[in-house]
Formats: sequence, C-alpha cells, structure tokens
Amino acid sequence: MTASEPTKSAVTAIAHPNIALVKYWGKADGERNLPDVGSISITLDALATRTTVALAESGDHFSLNESPEPAMSARLFGFLDHFYGADRPTLAVTSFNDFPTAAGLASSASGFAALVVAVDALLHGGHSTPTLAQQAGRGSGSAARSLFGGFVRLDKPTGIDDDITVTELCAAADFPLEVVVAITSEQRKTVGSTEGMRTSKQTSPFYPAWIETHEADMAAAAGAIAQRDFERLANISEHSCLKMHAVMQATRPAMLYWNSATVACMHAVHALRASGTGVFFTIDAGPQVKAVCLPEHASAVADELASINGVQRILRTGLGKGARILSQGPN
Ligand code: PMV
Repeated sequence: MTASEPTKSAVTAIAHPNIALVKYWGKADGERNLPDVGSISITLDALATRTTVALAESGDHFSLNESPEPAMSARLFGFLDHFYGADRPTLAVTSFNDFPTAAGLASSASGFAALVVAVDALLHGGHSTPTLAQQAGRGSGSAARSLFGGFVRLDKPTGIDDDITVTELCAAADFPLEVVVAITSEQRKTVGSTEGMRTSKQTSPFYPAWIETHEADMAAAAGAIAQRDFERLANISEHSCLKMHAVMQATRPAMLYWNSATVACMHAVHALRASGTGVFFTIDAGPQVKAVCLPEHASAVADELASINGVQRILRTGLGKGARILSQGPN
C-alpha cells in the first residue's frame, strides 16, 4: 500500500498489554512473523502504552518515555515502511509506557497495537480491527491480541498464503477477573522472544510435543471461557504456561526466566488455590508472576504475594478494552 494524503497532523492512541493464558511460543514464518501455534489472552486495563504519531518535517523520530531509542526506532520505522511504503510521510512517534518495558509485561504488545491504530488514523488507512491486528502481529506476535478487549483468541494461519485470525471470545464484563502482578525484578530481559523462539524450535526436544498438544489446549481454554468455568481455565492456563517454560528450559542455550521470588509466588498461588481461593498463575518471558483471580479474592492474593521475599511491588488490574484512539487533530 502507498501512503495516502494525510488529513490530520497528530493522533494519540492507547493500547493495553495482554497476557496469554494459552501461550504462543514459536514461529512458522520468521519473515512474516507468523506463529506456529494459536493463543488465547486477556487484555488488561490498568497498564497502558499511549502513543502520539505526528507528521514530522525533519525525518523519522521515535522516543519512549522521553528517551530516544535508536535500536527500537529502526525496527519500528522499517515496520511502517512495509505497510505504508518508503514514500510515506516522515513521522514523530512519541510513546509512554506506565509500566516496566521489556520485562515480561508485554510492552511490545501494547506498543505495536497503539502504533498501528494511531498511524492508520493519521494516514487514514481505514483498516478494520482484524486487519490492524494482523498488521500489529507483524511487529510482535502477541501485539495482534491487544487490538481487542476481554478474552481474545488468535488462530494461526491455516494455509501457506493465509494470515492469523484474531477474534474477541468474550467481553471483559462478561467474565470479570482481576490480575495481580508480582514484580520481582525491574531489569530488562536478556533473551528476546524472537531469538528464544528460534532456538527453541531448533534445539528443544520438547518443541514437537508443544506443537502437537497445542490445539487441544486452545479448545479446552475456549470451552472453559464459554462456560465461565474458572477452575478449568486455571488448570489449562497453568498447564500451558508450565509447558512453554519447559520448552524454554530445555532449549540450548537454556532460557531460565524465573528467579527465586518467581518460584515462591508460584508455590503461594498453589497453596491459596488448595485452600479455596480463586487464583492461578501465568508467567511470560520474564520473572514477573501474573496471578489471575476471581475479583472477590484479588485483595487476599495481593496481600499474600506482597509479603513474599523478593517481590518488589504489586500491580493490580482488571480486564480492559482493545486499542483505540484517544485524540486526533492538528499537532
Ligand atoms: O509477541 P512476542 O514476540 O513478544 O512473544 C510473546 C511470547 C510470550 O509472551 C512468552 C507468550 C505470549 O503468548 O504472549
């Protein structure tokens, strides 16, 4: 596609990170960034990326939390060239994350989701939300899911020329849950997901089993969500999380994202669930533990996790909406 004549000089969009309950790990096509497996996620509401895209006269410019980010900048503008052509207008992209970046809190998901929505409006691309989800997925596989709110299902392409399909399974209000995030380290992760997925596919002896069993996990989680069955969702989500980490840990070189506080939180969540508290954990490519809770149990879970040695702080969030425009107009 080539760039259309812009009619607005600045657009601000907001997107929230999402966390997968049925995890995505592994690519079918590195070039198009297409996944080897589907995934099911929840979109959060209390954490956000806010991105303003404005027409720029002096070349492309990107800043994140008021700092220039040259490495991310090359990836971001190369991504925009792909969709809008190298003759697109030059852009100033200003992004703010109100949560730690690149620490397993899905900052690239909210980042790419906010970006595609803002740029589409600025360059009046007029793409539908499912198409914007496909675009965002080229930037970061999980970003495709942040275009939608509540519970989101991403299906992998079915044919060689196909793309992903992203749909909302259930709105946030129809199955209310809360997420308590235990931050156990604020450092940026050492192995990024693209590199990690490539080495897992090449070297993890568990990768073929991961692929073989994945569709059944998708069906089980979708069924649990349709029936609002928290206990079943807890079991399948923890299974998918631990299976992904088993694949990562058996990769050469191994990816061990957990620290001692991560493990202590996992045990605490299991003890809480055994005593009747509605909670389960999920963990991504980082050391933070996301405890997914029935809303009436979230305060007890937050108190318990906050008391664990090594937990630096706690974030709490409900489920939220998909990416959307906040404002648009002259710069
Ligand atoms: O979207 P990426 O390339 O950052 O990969 C995300 C991978 C996990 O967060 C570990 C799992 C998931 O499905 O979000």
